Amino acid sequence: MTEPKKLFIKTYGCQMNVYDSERMAEAMGGTGYVQTETPDDADMILLNTCHIREKAAEKVYSELGRYKGLKANNPELKIGVAGCVAQAEGKEIMRRQPMVDLVVGPQSYHRLPELEAKARAGEKAVDTDFPEDDKFAALKTRPKAKRGPTAFLTVQEGCDKFCAFCVVPYTRGAEVSRPAARIMDEARDLVERGVRELTLLGQNVNAYHGHEKGLGGLIRQLATVDGLERIRFTTSHPNDMDDDLIAAHADCEKLMPYLHLPVQAGSDKILKRMNRQHTAEEYLKLVERLRSVRPDLHMSGDFIVGFPEETEEDFQATLDLVKAVEYGSAFSFKYSERPGTPAAERPQVPEDEKADRLLRLQTLLTTQQKALQDAMVGRDVTVLFEKAGRDPGQMVGKSEYLHAVHVQAEGIAPGDMARVRIVWSGRNSLNGELLQG
Ligand code: SAH
Ligand code: SF4
Ligand code: F3S
Repeated sequence: MTEPKKLFIKTYGCQMNVYDSERMAEAMGGTGYVQTETPDDADMILLNTCHIREKAAEKVYSELGRYKGLKANNPELKIGVAGCVAQAEGKEIMRRQPMVDLVVGPQSYHRLPELEAKARAGEKAVDTDFPEDDKFAALKTRPKAKRGPTAFLTVQEGCDKFCAFCVVPYTRGAEVSRPAARIMDEARDLVERGVRELTLLGQNVNAYHGHEKGLGGLIRQLATVDGLERIRFTTSHPNDMDDDLIAAHADCEKLMPYLHLPVQAGSDKILKRMNRQHTAEEYLKLVERLRSVRPDLHMSGDFIVGFPEETEEDFQATLDLVKAVEYGSAFSFKYSERPGTPAAERPQVPEDEKADRLLRLQTLLTTQQKALQDAMVGRDVTVLFEKAGRDPGQMVGKSEYLHAVHVQAEGIAPGDMARVRIVWSGRNSLNGELLQG
């Protein structure tokens, strides 16, 4: 018997890339590859890349540089670039880094086995088409392995919103929803393999239209799957939060009280220039509506500081909005010019201003985050345990609100759920005690 070939995948960027990498590993499993944890002994290296900010894209080239020695020692080693940099730069990647054998965009992953064979035959293989079919249906899978208690499941991909700063509509293409029936099959399969919590993924997940009742309808249907205990979804756009999805936060028990709803900025002038298509007040009203049906909802968001023409006053409006919402978690970034997007052509905010605003915003967000975490002390939550903790007998899992919770829990295994009283709040996580019965 020949030894299986080894595949090393390194994943950058968002959760959708994590999901895609899992699916690509499964597909390559079907052609005789097993995954390896290190590039050193790999027969194929695949970088699943992100193009969202300049730094993310540059990381790819510096990582590729590191593989020169490996390629010199092993001419059979094939190097591939997948993901959003592959889509944005195509064969340009091979010009900049000639040792790259294969470039595959996110919409062409079902062709990966063919492309690998082409690369093995000594040809350069590039595919950055946008085919119409559901690539995941066409991706062959290997015999199903057991899974941990949580998993991602892509239900929607691409974006039609064209925010002025963002490359996603160009790298992931137009909005496409996977049919509900396929998602149901995949969800049941994951649950049989040990999954208890699903996070539904989409660049614009609440624009999902593969179910006649939209994402809310899909969530309610998924909630009927026995053994699936928790449902989350990310990332949502404020303008696609329809009445039924809001109502699901009240009446669907398996839908967790945590919502990632990026707003990016608090100034109406900046929101308009970003092409976000809503005002700060509309966003605040929406948060109010959500909290009126689900008072304990933890909000999460994304922010960009130093967008072109953002003044100190505009930035203050972002701080005001953050104060009004009180976020349980948040991600914030300095605006990064992306080639081909409208905002890249506009007058830029100086780098030191951006850095100063980011620091001030992050200080506020961290304070809020910590205050909400501290407020959990004394409360009872349900924890889905994921893995052993650092101390003997300790297990770590997540609460409904996505807080990491450490518990002394002999006899409890990953995938178990239990009621826990929170007794202590640390820097980034909580400690709790099991409640009896
Ligand atoms: N689809 C999601 C976000 C995708 S990108 C949404 O619409 O919310 C994730 C986050 O990266 C964005 O929410 C935004 O905050 C940030 N981001 C996107 N483009 C950026 C850029 N050019 N510079 C800095 N941050 C950016
Ligand atoms: Fe990018 Fe805007 Fe689409 Fe989100 S909604 S992926 S930020 S263009
Ligand atoms: Fe990055 Fe593409 Fe995701 S640009 S954030 S990997 S959609």
